[in-house]
Amino acid sequence: MSSSAGYRPDGFAAVPGSAAWRRVRRALVRHGTWGTFRRAAVKLRPVRGGEYVHVWYAMDLAAADAPKRPLEPELELRRGGGDDMWLLEQLPLDPHVSTMTPWLVQDWLGSGGSLWLVQNGDRAALRCWVFRDWCPMGGAPGGGIRPPSDAVVVKDVMTSPEFRGRGVAPAAWAAIADAYREDGSRWMYIRVDSKNDSSRRAIEKAGFREVARLHTRWRYWWRTTRLVDGTGEPAHGWLQQLVRA
Ligand SMILES: CC(C)(COP(=O)(O)OP(=O)(O)OC[C@H]1O[C@@H](n2cnc3c(N)ncnc32)[C@H](O)[C@@H]1OP(=O)(O)O)[C@@H](O)C(=O)NCCC(=O)NCCS
Repeated sequence: MSSSAGYRPDGFAAVPGSAAWRRVRRALVRHGTWGTFRRAAVKLRPVRGGEYVHVWYAMDLAAADAPKRPLEPELELRRGGGDDMWLLEQLPLDPHVSTMTPWLVQDWLGSGGSLWLVQNGDRAALRCWVFRDWCPMGGAPGGGIRPPSDAVVVKDVMTSPEFRGRGVAPAAWAAIADAYREDGSRWMYIRVDSKNDSSRRAIEKAGFREVARLHTRWRYWWRTTRLVDGTGEPAHGWLQQLVRA
């Protein structure tokens, strides 16, 4: 815990600075000064408008009715850390997920995130992150969300293209669900772009159930969000945090 972490009252984040400043620093690390400037120019240009939808899924860990999908025997699931960059760097860039730089990995580990890896010998098959208490979430007010104490959020899942279509992600989530169930969690959430069909297919096969949709509409520089609750169950009411006032 850093006492100088001023942007969060509980001092939870290990890296001080506002959410906006953290985004700028992350972009500088990822894209360099000129790359960051060009991306900012693209983002700030007047775009007339549009809408995108994020689907939120939840798995009820108490129901234990999710299909059991074992990993192929030669694959190993384990918790990762800062010294696993050599494995993370084997995975390609993808617009649906954050790029893993050493800085981002340290930031997320310092913010309480857990890195999970599936590997086949020295080849990376999958990576994903699991957050509890605080979860960085682009587009959310303040740059993140605070799940209830009995919930975890799975984020930034990527299966290596070499291993896709073999059920690696659903099998990894089943094992990860077991780990968090044993640790006392009740709900495991995941968010996906509504147009990401492969991901939605993997998520649904794993036993996640759609619980809400966040519609984001933008017009020029203004963004508005609307959460459509798919279940009416109070357990998922905390997702209202995603809505921008
Ligand atoms: C989404 C993703 C994690 C799924 O992982 P996976 O281990 O391949 O999952 P599955 O094997 O269950 O495949 C899911 C679906 O992907 C599609 N798929 C199959 N082979 C594929 C391939 N070679 N390449 C891409 N997609 C494929 C199929 O529709 C499959 O469903 P099916 O098995 O019922 O036909 C993976 O496609 C990925 O890393 N995508 C890029 C990053 C991303 O979108 N992350 C999700 C953010 S929430």
